[in-house]
Amino acid sequence: MTKAARGSLLGIEHMEAAEILGLLKLARHMNPLKPRPLLRGKRVLLLFYEPSTRTRSSFEIAAKSMGAMTTLVLSSGSSIEKGESLLDTAYTLRAVGADVIVIRHPHAGAPLLMANNLDIPVVNAGDGMHEHPSQALLDAYTILRHKKTLKGLQVAIVGDIFHSRVARSAVHLLSKFGARVTLCGPSEFLPEMATSLAPGLRISRHTEEAVRGADVIMVLRVQKERLAGTKISLQDYISRYQMTMARLKLAKRDAMVMHPGPIIRGLELTWEVADCPQSAIVEEVRNGVPVRMAILAKALGKAR
Ligand code: NCD
Repeated sequence: MTKAARGSLLGIEHMEAAEILGLLKLARHMNPLKPRPLLRGKRVLLLFYEPSTRTRSSFEIAAKSMGAMTTLVLSSGSSIEKGESLLDTAYTLRAVGADVIVIRHPHAGAPLLMANNLDIPVVNAGDGMHEHPSQALLDAYTILRHKKTLKGLQVAIVGDIFHSRVARSAVHLLSKFGARVTLCGPSEFLPEMATSLAPGLRISRHTEEAVRGADVIMVLRVQKERLAGTKISLQDYISRYQMTMARLKLAKRDAMVMHPGPIIRGLELTWEVADCPQSAIVEEVRNGVPVRMAILAKALGKAR
């Protein structure tokens, strides 16, 4: 296998802390309301094999606000439906002139495979249950708008940890910077082995215990069909793990509530929590644009 093209963003796990800080710093200089033609003439290919609202639209707006051209290819309606392989699709997109490919794929490792076989950078917009690096970066960016440092911060991640690429990338990033992360969820969604993700991770089966004294509460989406495959009923899940105002009150007074979206009100969190002043859910989405501007500028060698 060849080495992934320079500028690729495949995951947080193997990134150096300095590289992460560099991207976060660059994002602070990006303003989608003041477009800069940094990427004029560049072609950004958005290749989405899975549904997406936030990630897709923010990568597109990020690219366009720096003057790049974007082309969206969805698996439905493309040759992927006819059975074309991932690499043949990649070679096709390279041949039509893509300068960078942003890919979301249901299989872990799809972006790496593409990056190892192309001479252009590949950005992982979520691969299976593996990683979602741009989400972790925008979450870190959002936390650092409110907290001085990630070091020593108490972060509770509540929900379906096992299936969540968001949780995996967040754990890698937060652990690199010395945050104290507690994972919380029913055992089917949180196997003990989850602690091997990063050193110092804690597990809690009780939401109250996990959120007590927390600075940040990250709530994850729960898919009803996945819940159906466990011993926990929907009602049980709601009564034990749903983020409610009563549970939020156990956290620090200035605790932030985060969620990568899409949120399911009434399931993993209540309406009140979603809309409370401590909720940073909309801000996370907003911050996705400058963070993805930084990712694309770096991928295309225009990070100055
Ligand atoms: C997440 C994803 O697709 O991984 N959404 C997102 O990108 N903001 C989380 C989810 O779908 O639950």
